[in-house]
Amino acid sequence: MKLITKISIGLATSSFLIFVGCSTAQPTISEESLGLRKVDLYSEDKVTPDETKYSKAAPSTSKTIARAFQDAPPMIPHDVEGMLPITVNNNQCISCHTPGVAESFGTLPYPKSHMINFRPDTSLTKNGDIVKNGKIVENTSSEKLEYVTINEMHQLSNSRFNCSQCHAPQSEMKEIVGNTFTPDYTSEDGSKKSSWTGTSLTEGLDTLME
Ligand code: HEC
Ligand code: HEC
Repeated sequence: MKLITKISIGLATSSFLIFVGCSTAQPTISEESLGLRKVDLYSEDKVTPDETKYSKAAPSTSKTIARAFQDAPPMIPHDVEGMLPITVNNNQCISCHTPGVAESFGTLPYPKSHMINFRPDTSLTKNGDIVKNGKIVENTSSEKLEYVTINEMHQLSNSRFNCSQCHAPQSEMKEIVGNTFTPDYTSEDGSKKSSWTGTSLTEGLDTLME
């Protein structure tokens, strides 16, 4: 009964809309005005994107870029020619940004957060149940993040291996859309250094395992 009522209300509403649609003149919106490209959607050959200008400065000769906001992943200021894509057998980023080595190149090592595994130990039982940190779980996408763990490691966590997933080279180009955002760093050197050190990484988190 309920369903039928809903359907009939739906039909009544849509015929009303059709009626209104026919009786009033709708303003038309041209395709050219829809996007940032300002040409119609079928004219790929008329689109002239701005030139991308990545830094050609080799590592040790580039200038670091201010962080977008406190603890934002820094942009890559140097040339990455020949370094991307990162593969299992070729990750040159690590050879310069590993703690202990980075300092001698005059740069920052990957920080402590990159040496923490936030993922729970996950396995399957013979019956196909999902086990996280020793507990059988039914819903693996808990909104409360209750299966997040904080396992400190002494090396890079595999989840951070693909640096370019979060760190991108900066392209110098005309701003298509103006940016009015100005960061309000919470630490004095926030424009050039992450503040996630020591216990500050885990403070205030209610996801620590008991
Ligand atoms: C040959 C050594 C070397 C390699 C390889 C290298 N880097 Fe760098 N990186 C540096 C140096 C040195 C700097 C500091 C800027 C400069 O002096 O050019 C730097 C700066 C950075 C910064 C900015 C850090 C800050 O303080 O803002 C990021 C992010 C970065 N590199 C990421 C990467 C990634 C990702 C890769 C791999 C695609 C990579 N680097 C490969 C040496 C290297
Ligand atoms: C999942 C996203 C992610 C990946 C993958 C990742 N990073 Fe980061 N990185 C961040 C974020 C976010 C920050 C800033 C906050 C922090 O300290 O964790 C950061 C900070 C840094 C910094 C600045 C540290 C400081 O003290 O200010 C360096 C250098 C860096 N990453 C290098 C790397 C390198 C090299 C890799 C690959 C081996 C890598 N990152 C992989 C997200 C990532």
